[in-house]
Amino acid sequence: MIQTQQAAQRPQLPADTENTRLYAPAQTFSSIVSIPQRCTLWGDARYRGNCDGTLFKELVHQYRPRSIADPMRGSGTTADVVAGMRELGLYDGSYWSSDLKEGFNLLTTPLPGRHDMVWVHPPYWNIIRYSDHIADLSTIDVFEEFIAALEACLIRCIDSLNPRGTLAVLIGDVRRQGRYYCLAQHVMGMSDQLGNLVSVIIKAQHNCSSDRKRYGNMKHVPIKHEYCLLFQKNI
Ligand SMILES: C[S@@+](CC[C@H](N)C(=O)[O-])C[C@H]1O[C@@H](n2cnc3c(N)ncnc32)[C@H](O)[C@@H]1O
Repeated sequence: MIQTQQAAQRPQLPADTENTRLYAPAQTFSSIVSIPQRCTLWGDARYRGNCDGTLFKELVHQYRPRSIADPMRGSGTTADVVAGMRELGLYDGSYWSSDLKEGFNLLTTPLPGRHDMVWVHPPYWNIIRYSDHIADLSTIDVFEEFIAALEACLIRCIDSLNPRGTLAVLIGDVRRQGRYYCLAQHVMGMSDQLGNLVSVIIKAQHNCSSDRKRYGNMKHVPIKHEYCLLFQKNI
């Protein structure tokens, strides 16, 4: 019921140009998301592990934050979406983003300022190595150590939120030597520290490296989804 009411409040824009259609809220937005065609205006598809910006855009429409931060910006997908929304007058709040590659270490550094929404898209353990920097989460091979570092990063994100602010964590699971490591389960289990878990969005993964593997040779079901976990800060 609450979700239906929120959906009804989503802004309706005249879809008169390609750009307004691109940045307008989707007609339907639910806990299952699939975006087969990546928008080339947002981020850089050559940056391994980058994400399409559609889900982030929908969250901005849904929650209407006045300030947004992305401390693991990678190729800058959220920055590009915010810039486009600004041009159309769909967002006029503040925006800050950075990344270890730009010298910002989320493990050790608080985010500057306070925000209504923090979007964070961490490495999925070490499946893609982003750098050789000692603070890069993707260089941590021991799973338990990776989870501890991820938790430290997420607590920094929640610390920078305004009361009732939204933390959106885009995260995927990993299978290694036949064992399934559910990273999302660990993040969901942090609700004591991160606030109320308010939504679990399942996002279909497209163009992943497992696409090139032959299913017949795979013992277990290929992973084709990731999660966007939404927490609302309590105080
Ligand atoms: C999955 S990528 C983000 C991709 C991004 N959403 C995009 O669309 O391009 C994860 C990012 O986390 C960054 N990272 C890893 N450890 C970090 C740390 N300690 N502090 C800040 N950024 C870190 C990596 O450099 C990488 O760019």
